[in-house]
Amino acid sequence: MCGIVGYIGYREVYPILINGLKRLEYRGYDSAGIAILNSESHIYKCKGKVSDLEKHVSGNPIHGNIGIGHTRWATHGEPNDTNAHPHQSTGGKFILIHNGIIENYVELKGRLKNLGFSFKSDTDSEVLANLIEYVYLNGNVSAEMAVRLALSQVEGAYGVVIMCTDEPDKLIAARKGSPLVIGVGNDEYFLASDATPIVEYTKSVIYLSDQNVAIITRTELVLKTLKNIPLTPTIQQLDLDIGEIDKGGYEHFMLKEIYEQPRSIMDTFRGRITTQGTELHLGGLYQVIPRLVEAKRIIIIGCGTSWHAGLVGEYLFEDLARISVEVEYASEFRYRHPILDKDDVVIAISQSGETADTLAAVRLAKDAGALVLGICNVVGSSIPRETDGGVYTHAGPEIGVASTKAFTAQVTVLAMMAILVGRRRNILDDKQYQHYIDELKEIPGKIEKILEHAGEIQKLAELFKYVNNFLYLGRGYLFPVALEGALKLKEISYIHAEGYPAAEMKHGPIALIDLNMPVVVLAIKDHSYDKIVSNIQEVKARKANIIAVVNEGDTTIKQLANYTVEIPEADAIFSPLLAVVPLQLMSYYIAVMRGCNVDQPRNLAKSVTVE
Ligand code: M6R
Repeated sequence: MCGIVGYIGYREVYPILINGLKRLEYRGYDSAGIAILNSESHIYKCKGKVSDLEKHVSGNPIHGNIGIGHTRWATHGEPNDTNAHPHQSTGGKFILIHNGIIENYVELKGRLKNLGFSFKSDTDSEVLANLIEYVYLNGNVSAEMAVRLALSQVEGAYGVVIMCTDEPDKLIAARKGSPLVIGVGNDEYFLASDATPIVEYTKSVIYLSDQNVAIITRTELVLKTLKNIPLTPTIQQLDLDIGEIDKGGYEHFMLKEIYEQPRSIMDTFRGRITTQGTELHLGGLYQVIPRLVEAKRIIIIGCGTSWHAGLVGEYLFEDLARISVEVEYASEFRYRHPILDKDDVVIAISQSGETADTLAAVRLAKDAGALVLGICNVVGSSIPRETDGGVYTHAGPEIGVASTKAFTAQVTVLAMMAILVGRRRNILDDKQYQHYIDELKEIPGKIEKILEHAGEIQKLAELFKYVNNFLYLGRGYLFPVALEGALKLKEISYIHAEGYPAAEMKHGPIALIDLNMPVVVLAIKDHSYDKIVSNIQEVKARKANIIAVVNEGDTTIKQLANYTVEIPEADAIFSPLLAVVPLQLMSYYIAVMRGCNVDQPRNLAKSVTVE
């Protein structure tokens, strides 16, 4: 969740750290800090954003070629100057930045206090700094060995980068559960919790694996396990361009990412539909497709928006492939005692590929013998590395905390998987198979058309920007979209919103409906059209303002609803890809009009690597 950046080499480190932290700020933004070593150690940290840190530092230019930086999403200890990272050990020998949670920190802290260590902050991370110093001083060992021995006493998760004032030409990095990427340059190395701060300097990277430690000088990187077993680092090439992580002229990343969807969906299916347009190829499933086709049951796991995409997947696999599907919150699934066997296929959906609960659920399912597949966006992240196969969404970096293009890419992958498996199981014949492939290719153009009418949605946002509650209703494929629309509004504008299956409304939520409760109804022309028209009547009778998302040319609902937003017609299985777009835009505009920080909503972080 927190952002970590580090550098050792020949360049001035300060701008590298500050720019890196700005790129990583979407991961956490309650406080920020840096430490730079030259002839002495310099630590600057403060509550607030990276821009606050810059103000805090200004007037004190720090020169040096080795340093670390951190942007925090608080777990232990409130966001304030003292709890901000980096943390320094009591004797001043070790300075570190940490992402993750040290679960046994209370016990360790008690022990260290008894040994004379003092603590300034409420964080678990400062405990680790002191533990390393204790091992270093008492064991009379090298900094690297002290780090390894200390980490072997730690329970929980960490991505850490550590500097030792006695060995000032070295960075020590280690990982368990929290991602770390090392950029490899010529006589320089970059460290970060994801590749975004690195890509402008080098595309050669090493992904640190769990329980690995990297000891890095300007000219050498030594990789080993926590238990001191040497490893050979594997250098990979990043498939990421600097332009992809800029706002590209848009006011916010979220808006840019909404507008990117025609292209990102095309990127998701590019190369996976044969040039003749007649076949689907999902290379990451090649080895496992027989087990997927024979699956007795599919369990889809994810969190937040990815869970909503999973719900769409349930409809897709049941309709097109006739396989029974369950969709689970990863955070619930992992703590239950799920019954799994080798005939089950578990599909983990995660934009970041690092969500702690989803990763833990993946491990549980693998241990139980299920085939585990991933649908992830971040190439090289933990979930794709730990699953038996899967499909990258290739949506490009998603920086806005509110997920938009990741959702449509996930649904696109699920649709391709369901179509492919449906054909292999002979549920779909050649004609239907071809029909769905053809329809999928039309989706980007249809989204373009919706985006051309963004101005109308902006006007709607103007009308509803000050309401306190919203209800979203949908049926079938659009029920998960109702949930997603409500989540988008909640997380960036802080308006309370609920998504409901339209028919469930009369079992409770209808009691909430009155003049002050706008209701967004997703009402496309599918097999339940007449039913949703009845639901709209029920809402209208309670005097709510109705905003209906309808197909182009719909005249029936236009007469009932107060406002309509048109989307092009498409086969129902692809309707989530279209219907979600106006909801994303409406949330975006309302949040902007309310003065909310759209890309960095309060209390949230992009990648939730704590449980
Ligand atoms: O990286 P993941 O897809 O695993 O993240 C899951 C959720 O944290 C994420 O979708 C979250 O709900 C978003 N903020 C929604 O916009």
